[in-house]
Amino acid sequence: MMLAARLRAGFVDAYGAAPHINSRAPGRVNLIGEHTDYNDGFAMPIAIGAETRVAFTPVAGADLQVAALDLGECDRFSPARVGALPGGGWRNYVRGTVDELTRAGIAVPGGMLAIAGNIARGTGLSSSASLEVALVHALLAAAGVEWPALDIALLAQRAECGFPGVRCGNLDQIASAATRAGHALLIDCRSLALRTIRMPDDVAVMIVQSGVERGLVDGEYNTRRSECERAAAFLGVAALRDADDAMLHAAIGRLDDRAWHRARHVIGDNRRALDAARALAADDLIATGRLMRDSHLSQAQDFGITVPQTDRLADLLNAAIGVDGGARQTGGGFGGAVVGVMRRDRVDAVRDAVLAHYRTPAGTPPDLCIEVPADGAGLVAG
Ligand code: GLA
Repeated sequence: MMLAARLRAGFVDAYGAAPHINSRAPGRVNLIGEHTDYNDGFAMPIAIGAETRVAFTPVAGADLQVAALDLGECDRFSPARVGALPGGGWRNYVRGTVDELTRAGIAVPGGMLAIAGNIARGTGLSSSASLEVALVHALLAAAGVEWPALDIALLAQRAECGFPGVRCGNLDQIASAATRAGHALLIDCRSLALRTIRMPDDVAVMIVQSGVERGLVDGEYNTRRSECERAAAFLGVAALRDADDAMLHAAIGRLDDRAWHRARHVIGDNRRALDAARALAADDLIATGRLMRDSHLSQAQDFGITVPQTDRLADLLNAAIGVDGGARQTGGGFGGAVVGVMRRDRVDAVRDAVLAHYRTPAGTPPDLCIEVPADGAGLVAG
């Protein structure tokens, strides 16, 4: 059953009537600029076809009942007195979003809410951000309030940092909230200036799942962030966005080795994201591809967030794509997915090569899909 129909049926099943409000928010795949967002830098994602949907019927004064249809689990709390649950998993994304909306002065009503989605969790495609962004849309609509996409994204980001405790940047939520169909989005994560870049017609974006789910990523993620902050403090800048090669060079042997390498990745990927945006806009896949390959190597060697499976997949894709495009691990890291950008006439050959030569740790062929840049989040008909 299609996602919208599944959500509607699940909602009716759980609560006995159709929902009044429906929203959707896409996952994202980041083309380049990784772990740059919380360093005030640049990233260039597209929204993908997979998404999270929320259905809601507000009931003033009632508890908020929440059904996570894909998990067969539920939650119930008073929106006015919401707290985090230790080890609460998905519940803390919902609770955290309600809490942030309340802090922002929104009177979140109780009622009946259901969630369904088709973004595989732990694959680096931002299922949690899309859940938060879809929730914000539904709950704002219930409160009769309209917010700009960026405000929605920033509240959703705070929701993820709050109860779930991941000190994430703003890339995922901005990508989910503010992208445009058919376009990539260059985000200046400091000024929040956004530049849409039309995806050239004969360019295909392929996502291949390594089958390695991110393990302990939140701990590792927060560690990376602290290392970047240590490097920025040592270099005397507010954020690594403000650091350059000369500063890095001067810090050799003085800044600890680990923080030095983290900084080199961030400085390099910021530059690569800007260069890739220019290259993609000019339909220059040779340059785009080279930047993506460099970005993968930098993630592997300097940032320490790739795994043998994503290294292997990136190699396979890069070999099959040829010079006109490239591939790299995408997202938070430690497994997840690899993204490839290529000419459309290469898609079959690349798919064949990947399916012939890569097996997930479970021994199965990898999940693979071709993405058309999707539209950012919003309300939808049921
Ligand atoms: C995760 C975080 C983002 C970003 C990426 C890495 O997806 O949620 O904020 O830092 O990792 O680029």
